[in-house]
Amino acid sequence: MNENPPKLPEPFKTKMVEKITLRSREEREELVEKTGYNVFMLRAEDVFIDLLTDSGTSAMSDRQWAGMIETTQAYAGSQSYYSLEKAMKDIFGFKYLVPVHQGRAAENILFSTIVSPGCYIPNNTHFDTTEANIMRNKSVPVNFVIEDAYNSTKVMPFKGNMDIKKLENFIREKTPEKIPLIMITVTNNSIGGQPVSMRNIKEVSRIAKKYGIPFFMDACRFAENCYFIKQRENGYRNKTMKEITRELFSYADGCTFSGKKEALTNIGGMLCTNNKELYEKFRNLTIVIEGFVTYGGLACRELEAMARGLYEVLDEDYQAYRHRQIEYLAKLLRDGDVPIVEPPGGHAIFVEAKKFLPHIPPEQFPAQALTVQLYIESGVRAVEIGSSCFGKVDKMGRFIPAKMELMRLAIPRRTYTDNHLRYVAECLIRMYKKRKQIRGLRRVLTAELLGHFTARFEQIN
Ligand code: F0G
Repeated sequence: MNENPPKLPEPFKTKMVEKITLRSREEREELVEKTGYNVFMLRAEDVFIDLLTDSGTSAMSDRQWAGMIETTQAYAGSQSYYSLEKAMKDIFGFKYLVPVHQGRAAENILFSTIVSPGCYIPNNTHFDTTEANIMRNKSVPVNFVIEDAYNSTKVMPFKGNMDIKKLENFIREKTPEKIPLIMITVTNNSIGGQPVSMRNIKEVSRIAKKYGIPFFMDACRFAENCYFIKQRENGYRNKTMKEITRELFSYADGCTFSGKKEALTNIGGMLCTNNKELYEKFRNLTIVIEGFVTYGGLACRELEAMARGLYEVLDEDYQAYRHRQIEYLAKLLRDGDVPIVEPPGGHAIFVEAKKFLPHIPPEQFPAQALTVQLYIESGVRAVEIGSSCFGKVDKMGRFIPAKMELMRLAIPRRTYTDNHLRYVAECLIRMYKKRKQIRGLRRVLTAELLGHFTARFEQIN
């Protein structure tokens, strides 16, 4: 008999638990109204299942906790710095690193060092903090992800790729002098957590070298990207995660990294490079704004947790479980006709608000409306990745909506079980059946940069 082997469960067991509470529907309605219909403003204790982000929300392992206790605390030269440096060199292969308190601090240091006003920074798709850090330095973030990325139903192995032709044409048009850096984000969070192929990375690296422009990766989710490469790209199936990771980073001159994702920690980040001159500039600025270079705005124990987490994230059993869990949620939603971005990304499911709520126009923030309603219906917190996050207002004061209206269900690592995700799917499917009752929102307050965190809305009757 040709039987399929049983699907493997989580490659870990529970050692400690945290109680979660579902508030009543009336309480949820009142709570979210008080926040100005912005779930960022909810208290975490009022959230039942928190899928706001996969960042800083991982459950750490016993080995990581043990390392945090074992390591010593020192202002300078702590053991955990050397432990992190060793892991980074072993896995990423860069020569130099400065630890920082999180990814956006690495971005701040990078752009404050290499950007002068009026420059352009291309990426496949910038994350919102990356964009904001470039704009703070009076430069322009530009996105050259392949056009297919915006087609949410098109199934492709590497939808996060850079459009190489567009990138090269742009460099020629603006001249390399105006482009101090090229970036690529792995996986491409803002368009659905989609992976980038090794081939594409190699091509971007070739273009960067051709025009003498440094090439950095936003490596927040490098291991999930490498697992996709292993599964989907010719020639990688028999390579280890570490071999694939080393090759990935070998094409870049450096990276920004948020340990809150794939170092499986609750805080921390790194800025890495092979360029000594750049490193020295990074180091000096780090001392001014983050802390001495052997702790970078962190308690030393956090560095040890990162060092250990970097190895755990390369574990193939872990990655197989992670991707299987996301596929599980995707299948439940698909089977319930909920429109999602296909194929699912590496860290989240993205629900398509334009299709879920076709009666709500972009200026009434359909993805935000969906996110608010999901909380009211289920106590589940998701996050809007649409016009509240990426919409713009032009010089004439006209609203320019984001290209996509998405609600992201980010899955914290090693934190929730399939049963939690089944509850999320059941609630969303129920909402889909009565979607016409969901109302749009009017934005009554927003800030100039990263306004979605503090924006306030009113429900439209
Ligand atoms: N780059 C990407 C691709 C990210 O997804 C994030 C954070 C950052 C940079 C900044 O890192 O938070 O450590 O400062 N993403 C989180 C999210 C916040 O929810 O997607 P950070």
